[in-house]
Amino acid sequence: MDIGPLNHVGVAVPSIEKAAQTYRDLYGCTDITEPGELPAQGVRFCFVNLPNSQIELIEPMGDDSPISNFLKKNPKGGQHHVCFEVEDIYKAKALMEERGATVLNEPRIGAHGTLIIFVHPKNTDGVLIELMETPKGDH
Ligand code: CO
Repeated sequence: MDIGPLNHVGVAVPSIEKAAQTYRDLYGCTDITEPGELPAQGVRFCFVNLPNSQIELIEPMGDDSPISNFLKKNPKGGQHHVCFEVEDIYKAKALMEERGATVLNEPRIGAHGTLIIFVHPKNTDGVLIELMETPKGDH
């Protein structure tokens, strides 16, 4: 397996509306998606669309959200993960484990509607890595 394109950089924030406004006001980004929710994963999200990639803004839903813990350590928000595309999430998971990495979850549906896994930051120089299946028909 080789990873595919960088899909997005995930940024945890206390408020995605406020953060989206910053991308509008400070950087002139006008192409920002409507907020979505993944209640099972305890997050609200939206995407700032850039010419070559996206910034995924993520906000906790509820106190047991994994993002709540992150924001306790980084109250103003901060870079949370980096996401690369892969062709087949089950093959990717098996290969990551074969190569000694710790995969943090069973494949589940992510913010783009395709299957995702997370690889522990300890395996990649402190960076939490999300792998997601390339959306079909998107390329
Ligand atoms: Co993500």
